[in-house]
This record gives sequence, structure tokens and C-alpha cells, in this order.
Amino acid sequence: MRRVVIAGNWKMHKTQAESLEFLQSFLPLLENTAEDREVILCAPFTDLSVMSKNLHGTRVRLGSQNVHWEESGAFTGEIAPSMLTEVGVTYAVVGHSERRQYFGETDETVNFRARAAQKAGLKPILCVGESKQQRDAGETEAVITQQLKADLVGIDLSGLVIAYEPIWAIGTGDTCDSKEANRVIGLIRSQLSSADVPIQYGGSVKTANIDEIMAQPEIDGALVGGASLDAEGFARIVNYQS
Ligand code: G3H
Repeated sequence: MRRVVIAGNWKMHKTQAESLEFLQSFLPLLENTAEDREVILCAPFTDLSVMSKNLHGTRVRLGSQNVHWEESGAFTGEIAPSMLTEVGVTYAVVGHSERRQYFGETDETVNFRARAAQKAGLKPILCVGESKQQRDAGETEAVITQQLKADLVGIDLSGLVIAYEPIWAIGTGDTCDSKEANRVIGLIRSQLSSADVPIQYGGSVKTANIDEIMAQPEIDGALVGGASLDAEGFARIVNYQS
């Protein structure tokens, strides 16, 4: 039985004060959430410590939005795995398309990050997905196959979550058709040597489409950007109707 994993990725949103305000509204809304749903908030680095204290004893796990592969050193602007585990972070997003697109991440650096995360006891949420141009050129399968091959070198699949995020569906309101997302996620699963890895869909997930997305048999959860910023809205997503 695969786990259901719903993660909010706040990207570069929310100060510490705003993150605490969110939790105050959000946590009570999880009282009746099905036991088998894992709930994660991937917050900006500056929020993690204070959020961790406020999440103690709750079911919500914390995630970072990136992690470096070295434990320390002259890497301005980066964060080490132990700095994250020290403040109670459990998950680390690696290979988000915004990191690949705007910050020069390659499959090689994504793989370094994922491996270092696992070595430190963090669980990577590995993002893969094709651009609009690649989809239009019929390259979706080839792109994803290549990403998985390179990103998963040396990775222990038992501690991994994968997020399929078609780049053209991110922040655009243009959600990938749920059946198509299901198809691609099935393809991803067929390339893994373990059948137990939770695979999320990400890209314009919102309250209006979460039930349909989660009804797809291959889809084990969601990585939610914009719609995770609102406590009531994200709680509705976490409490999707199955
Ligand atoms: O990490 C989340 C994804 O990039 C999706 O973002 O829900 O705002 O489209 P979005």
C-alpha cells in the first residue's frame, strides 16, 4: 500500500509571522484528516525553526525547498543538510523546475543534493517534468526517463517521494489533465525498481481539482504551490474527498 503525501511548497512566500498565522488557522482544520495522509509544508529557510517549534506534536512535517550536498564550506546562499535536520526538517525538495530553470540546477547537482539529503536522514521530494516545448515535440517520456536515470543514481528508493510537475502547468492555472498526469506517473513508476515510491502530481492543483486528481489510481498525492498559501484552501486540499 503506497503512502498518500500532500505537500505545500510555499516558494518565496511568508515571513515568520505569516507562517505562524497560517498554522494557527491550518492545524485545527486537520482534526478529521484521514490518518493515512502525510502532510508536509515546505517553507522558506527563515521560517523553519519557528514553525518546527509550533508543529511539535502535530502530524505536519516540515520540508525545505532545497539542500546543498556539502556539510559546510564556502557556498554562499546554500544550506547544509545538518542545518535542516537540526531544526526539525524531515523532507527536502530537490530539482524543482524553478531551481533548474532560474538557478542552473542540472541533473548532476540534483542528484548530489538528493544523495546528501538521504545521507543526513532527510527525505528528498524529487521533482521531474517536461517543458511545453518538450511536450509539444512529443519528448515527454524521453525527458522524464533521462531525468530519472540521472537523478536517481545512488538513491535509496525507500526514502524517496517523486513529484511529477509538468513545467507548463506550474502556476499557470493550466492543470495537466488528470488522466494524462496519471499516465505519465504510471510511466515513472514503471521505471522504478520499487513499486512503493509515492508519486505526486504538481502543477496548478487547487481545491476545485484535487478530488479528481486524487481519484486517479497512480497518483499518490500532490505538490501544491499557490493554493497552499491559504490555510483554509490548503486544508480543503489535504482533506480531499476520496
Ligand atoms: O511546487 C509546486 C509546484 O511548482 C506547483 O505550483 O501549484 O502554484 O502551480 P502551483
